[in-house]
Amino acid sequence: MKRLEAIGTEALRTLEARLSDEHAALSRKGLHLDLTRGKPGTDQLELSNVLDGILQGDYRAEDGTDVRNYGNLLGIPEARRLGGLIMDIEPELVLAGGNSSLLLMYLYVETAHLFGAAGPDSSWRDEAESADERAQARVKFLCPVPGYDRHFTICESLGIEMIAVPMLETGPDMDKVEACVRSDPLVKGIWCVPKYSNPTGITYSAEVVARFAQLGNMAGPHFRIMWDNAYAVHDLASPGDELANIVPLVRKAGTEDSLVIFASTSKITYAGGGVAYLATSAANLQVFERRLSAMIVSFDKVNQLRHARLLPDMDALHRQMRRQSELVHPRFEHVLSALERELGGSGLAEWTRPHGGYFISVDVIPGLARETVALAGKSGLELTPAGSTYPLGHDPQDQNIRIAPTFATPDEIDRAMDVFVLCVKLAAVRQRLAKGQDAR
Ligand SMILES: Cc1ncc(COP(=O)(O)O)c(C=O)c1O
Repeated sequence: MKRLEAIGTEALRTLEARLSDEHAALSRKGLHLDLTRGKPGTDQLELSNVLDGILQGDYRAEDGTDVRNYGNLLGIPEARRLGGLIMDIEPELVLAGGNSSLLLMYLYVETAHLFGAAGPDSSWRDEAESADERAQARVKFLCPVPGYDRHFTICESLGIEMIAVPMLETGPDMDKVEACVRSDPLVKGIWCVPKYSNPTGITYSAEVVARFAQLGNMAGPHFRIMWDNAYAVHDLASPGDELANIVPLVRKAGTEDSLVIFASTSKITYAGGGVAYLATSAANLQVFERRLSAMIVSFDKVNQLRHARLLPDMDALHRQMRRQSELVHPRFEHVLSALERELGGSGLAEWTRPHGGYFISVDVIPGLARETVALAGKSGLELTPAGSTYPLGHDPQDQNIRIAPTFATPDEIDRAMDVFVLCVKLAAVRQRLAKGQDAR
């Protein structure tokens, strides 16, 4: 499509009428298309059906634990080893939990905020209250944007103030991150999806990872990096992006306690039916285990054993992820080729071309994300609400839209993308015409 600046007003009006007609025709079709949440497709889930019955009546973990019974709050050894492989850290520092890493993240932040990540007398809230009772100083978190909405919801639900930090091509803007951390000891944490970030698909550069490792030396007490490595092994093609391992770097910098790593098998086996992981320093793990023991006797070790039997080593993990990518990669290609074909060179949108993960991030012309999503909704295409990739749902430029291609079939994606590109064009043409009228 031509750039709108190159189209005269009359031709623009004709174009608006044609696009409006096409939009109305689509709306009458009663489509039900959905590119919202990053859920695996049914064919991806089928890859793990062998989990059913894999134990064949053998419920003994390798250390002799009967996994049907209570005990082992930190998880069985082989499940912790699997977590260690995914997160590139020693299994002794890994907690193998239940079915959700997001829950572990919530519990970790809540623990640090209300009870203390380093034990009594280390709670963020108490520090904020004693800092300045009258000014009601608040605990703050840095939130790279666009980012994962559910991270932001954790902060919101605990009353933690969020400071947006722009994502650059190499990761978060580290100059801004360091300035914030240095200037305010109540900046207590930062959210990260360091590999195939949600939603931009960016993998942090080695330099950014190295700078992260130093943050604990610049920050106030009990600062935590929430290193959510949800897409650690989710390459679309081989070789995938290389993420530098932050673990040796924090050890060298003496900031081990600042790092808390999360991962899960939600996008490896069953979404919401896998095993979730947390890894951190031995001291942190001890405090968190004590806190957990007030809530739960033990996680589902039967499921842990199933997963450990399905994925006993790196080869098995890579095999599983190669089969996943054979299903996911073509879906990404369908989205990208529609964007390129219909919007390439038009100036109406820019988008990311990730090498892995679950999302494509599209920036439309500022001021048009909400309108585009609303137009899509009217014609039967559900998109993630505009703004949801920003703290409190507020995208100051109103331009980011997250596309999740995994759940729809390639055919549905094609139909959904026809609607999407039409709505991007229609919103842009209408904005251009309105501006022209304003100028008169
Ligand atoms: C970055 C990120 N972290 C965590 C999750 C949720 O993981 P889990 O199913 O382990 O709670 C998602 C799900 O989309 C995600 O994108």
